[in-house]
Amino acid sequence: MDPIEFTNFKTPHEPRAYVNASIRFHNEFTHEQRLKAAEEAGWNVFQFPSEMLKGGDLLSDSGTTTLTADQISAMLLGDEAYGSNYGYFKLLDTFQDVFGINMDEAELYIFHQCRSAEHAIFSQIGKLGSDQLIPNNGHFDTTRANVEDNKIKAIDCFTEELRSEDFHPFKGNMNLKKLEKLLEESSDNIPLVYLTITNNTGGGQPVSLQNIKDVQAMCDKYNKPLFLDACRFAENAYFIKQREEAYKQTSIDDIVKETFSLADGFTISLKKDGLANMGGGLLIKKSSRLVQEHPELLNNLRDHQILTEGHPTYGGLSGREIMTIVKGLKTAITEPYLKSRVGQVQEFGRYLSDLGIPVLEPFGGHAVYIDMDKFFEDTSHTRADFGGIAFTALLLLKGVRLCELGAFAFGEEHEHNFVRAAIPRNKYEIQDLYYVADCIKALYDKRHEIPKVKVTHGKDLSLRHFKARFELV
Ligand code: F0G
Repeated sequence: MDPIEFTNFKTPHEPRAYVNASIRFHNEFTHEQRLKAAEEAGWNVFQFPSEMLKGGDLLSDSGTTTLTADQISAMLLGDEAYGSNYGYFKLLDTFQDVFGINMDEAELYIFHQCRSAEHAIFSQIGKLGSDQLIPNNGHFDTTRANVEDNKIKAIDCFTEELRSEDFHPFKGNMNLKKLEKLLEESSDNIPLVYLTITNNTGGGQPVSLQNIKDVQAMCDKYNKPLFLDACRFAENAYFIKQREEAYKQTSIDDIVKETFSLADGFTISLKKDGLANMGGGLLIKKSSRLVQEHPELLNNLRDHQILTEGHPTYGGLSGREIMTIVKGLKTAITEPYLKSRVGQVQEFGRYLSDLGIPVLEPFGGHAVYIDMDKFFEDTSHTRADFGGIAFTALLLLKGVRLCELGAFAFGEEHEHNFVRAAIPRNKYEIQDLYYVADCIKALYDKRHEIPKVKVTHGKDLSLRHFKARFELV
C-alpha cells in the first residue's frame, strides 16, 4: 500500500489556516439583563456593552482582529522612543516590500486611524479651490463626511452590476461611464479621483485590476491623480486572483504591487488588512501630479500631522502598535490566511443564503450584506420605519450585533438599504457564525411582527447612526 496514494482523498471541510493561541470566555448574562442594557443604550447597537455579546459581535471588522502570536511577540520589541523608534524603520521597509513602493520617493504619514488621514488630505484639498467634487466607486461614511466637511461634493459611482441579481465577479468596480461623464463635464473641479478597494459601501465587493487600470488610464487622459482607499487591499487582491482570468497564475504579492503601481497615493486603515487593532496612513508618491502642481502640499500635510497626531515617526501610535502593523501587513498577503479569511465569509454567506435570507451575492471579502428592502418586502414596513434598526436592535437580545448601513445611517433616499454582518479577522469559528445566521433566520421568519422604530434622539444630527436613540413601537 502506498500511504500517500491511500490518504490522497478530499474532505468536505478543511482546517482553518491557524490554531488559537489565546481565548476569551464569555461571561453569562440573562435575557432580562440584555433587555435592560439595550433599553439603557436607546437600542443603539454602538452603545450596547460588548461584554454581553455571546453570539457574535459583527458590528465591524475594524480593529477587531485577533492578533497572531507573531504580532504579540513583536509588541514586546515595540520601541516607545519619542523620535525615530525602531518600528518606524521596519514599517517603512514593510511598506516598500508589501506595496512595492520606493519609500525614498514617497511620503508616508502615519495616523491613528484612516479617518484622520482622510481629514488631513481632504482639508488640504479643500483649500485648493471651490465647487470641487471627488468621484469614488463608493465613499465610506467617514470618507464622505471628511470630503463634505471641506465643502467638497462626494460623488459615488457604483457600477450598474451592483443592482443586478446575477453573478458579477467585480460588483465593486468604478462605474467608468459615470466617471468619464464627470471628468468631461467638470474636469476643472475634480482635484483627484478615489477608488475604494474593496468597495465597502457598495457591499464589500471587489474591484478588478482591469477596472483599476481603466480608471488610471482615464485619470491620465484628464491629467488627474488617482488615490486608493486601500483598507482591504489584500482581500481585493485575493478576489482578483480568484476571479480575474488574466491573474489566475499571478501571486498575491505581485497583484498587490501592480495595484499600487497604478496609484498616486492611498489612504489606509491598518485596522483592516494591516491586521492591527489601531493604525492608519496616508502615502503620496512624490511623482504624483498632485505634488507637481502643489509642491507645498507635502509640507502642509506634515504640519497637519504634527499638530494633530505627533511626530512623523509615530503619528498617533505607540511603538507596540506599530510593531503589530509591521507583522500584520506581511501576514495579510499570505494565501493561507486569505483563503481562510475570505473562505469563512463566503461560507457564512452561503449558509444565510440557503436559509432564504436576502443577501447580496456574490459575498464580499469582509462582510455579508442583508438587503433590508427585500427582507421587509412583503410586510407593512417602509424605509421610513427603519426596519433595519429594529432588526439589529432585537438581535442584541440574542447576544448578536450587526450594523445598519442603510435607510437610517445614510438616509431614506440612499441607493442601498443594508444591514451588514462584518466578520472580525481570525476571531470566530464557523459555529459562531452559524449561530448568528440561525438568529437572523428566526427573526426573518417573524418579520411581519418586527416593530417599527421611533427615533427619540438625533434624527436630524449628522452621522446620526452613531448617536441616535430609539424606541420600538
Ligand atoms: N475607508 C473604508 C473603506 C473603511 O471601511 C473605513 C472604516 C475607513 C475608510 C475609515 O477607517 O476606521 O480606520 O478611520 N471602516 C470601518 C467599518 C469602521 O466598520 O467598515 P478608520
